[in-house]
Amino acid sequence: MNILVTGGAGYIGSHTCVQLLDAGHKVVIFDNFCNSHSNVISRIEKIAGKKVKLYVGDIRDKSVLERIFCENQIDAVIHFAGLKSVSESVKSPLIYYDNNVMGAVALCLAMQKFNVRRLIFSSSATVYGTAAEAPYDESMPTGSVCNPYGRTKYFIEEILKDIFAADPAWYITILRYFNPIGAHENALLGEDPCGIPNNIMPYISQVAAKKLPLLTVFGNDYNTHDGTCVRDYIHVVDLANGHLKALEKMVHNNGGFNIYNLGTGKGYSVLELIRAFEKVSGQKINYKIGPRRAGDLPIVFADTKKAEKDLGFKAKFGIEKMCTDTWNWQKNN
Ligand code: NAD
Ligand code: UD1
Repeated sequence: MNILVTGGAGYIGSHTCVQLLDAGHKVVIFDNFCNSHSNVISRIEKIAGKKVKLYVGDIRDKSVLERIFCENQIDAVIHFAGLKSVSESVKSPLIYYDNNVMGAVALCLAMQKFNVRRLIFSSSATVYGTAAEAPYDESMPTGSVCNPYGRTKYFIEEILKDIFAADPAWYITILRYFNPIGAHENALLGEDPCGIPNNIMPYISQVAAKKLPLLTVFGNDYNTHDGTCVRDYIHVVDLANGHLKALEKMVHNNGGFNIYNLGTGKGYSVLELIRAFEKVSGQKINYKIGPRRAGDLPIVFADTKKAEKDLGFKAKFGIEKMCTDTWNWQKNN
């Protein structure tokens, strides 16, 4: 198939493009490089040994979007393009609503116009918010989200539900990611955040590499086994594979509207993650215990049964492989 991948130069998108190419699909990437580098494209091509077609532009730009659909017979779209910093979204909510929500609407309008009705959307476990408790399953209520970034994901999910309700000829799959970490094992692709990282894994690896002096652990007084927050970390290569499984299912079944968690179903605390990273890297991670971060939930992990049953998706890689590949990426870049 010919797959349009918006945000295909980004962290998760780039790993997914490699797997799409490996599986024999053609890939059209649409990215404005606002949070990625253009050299990612040649790295994707190097790993896969195949070319991709690239359009540089903004998903809100109707003229470029329509040109892409005119010039390419697109069979399905995987929509990664979006902004993802929680703290930035709190400071500049309109930028997030404009980029993420308006971007998704512009994409769906163009898809509708060109009669392309297969869409996979990158959502987040953040949509479960505070209304439910781990393990989160897809039938649990969503929407009690405490930041604008998370609300963009929730709003887009609701928009997609409305699109499908109005026209069931669409095939829409929403994937709710838990905490993606890790990198491609050859260290050509990985997460490269601008400035000081917000997320734990790039922070730990930059402390290990002595780029940052000290990690602050946000709270050790939670009701968890060691007092620090528990998350469901998933290797980005496993996560990328979840998109291929979702695509297969979409094509072979009669589609419809589906939502799947992509996680491992297993939670690790912040301290356990630090220890796992120290073990594989041989580096000491300097850390101190600080206050809780506003908006953090104590325990987040996935119920993975639905993705396992419907998609045949099961994450393969454990926490040590996630840390090994992150460290390898950090050392080589
Ligand atoms: P990323 O920032 O590495 O990749 C996003 C890509 O989209 C970047 O290459 C960026 O340049 C591009 N982009 C952003 N806005 C654009 C626009 N208006 N037009 C064109 N391109 C644009 O992020 P990622 O970690 O790969 O995340 C991919 C998607 O998954 C995002 O939608 C994100 O919200 C979602 N997600 C990520 C995580 C995570 O922890 N990484 C968790 C849950 C959901
Ligand atoms: C965060 C976002 C979530 C988003 C996801 C991916 C919040 C509340 N949630 O998830 O919406 O989808 O990133 O972008 O921001 N930690 C530290 N020290 C640090 C950084 C993190 O102790 O310097 C802890 C946090 O308290 C948390 C865990 O590490 O318990 C994971 O944090 P992080 O990587 O930011 O992911 P989430 O908060 O789970």
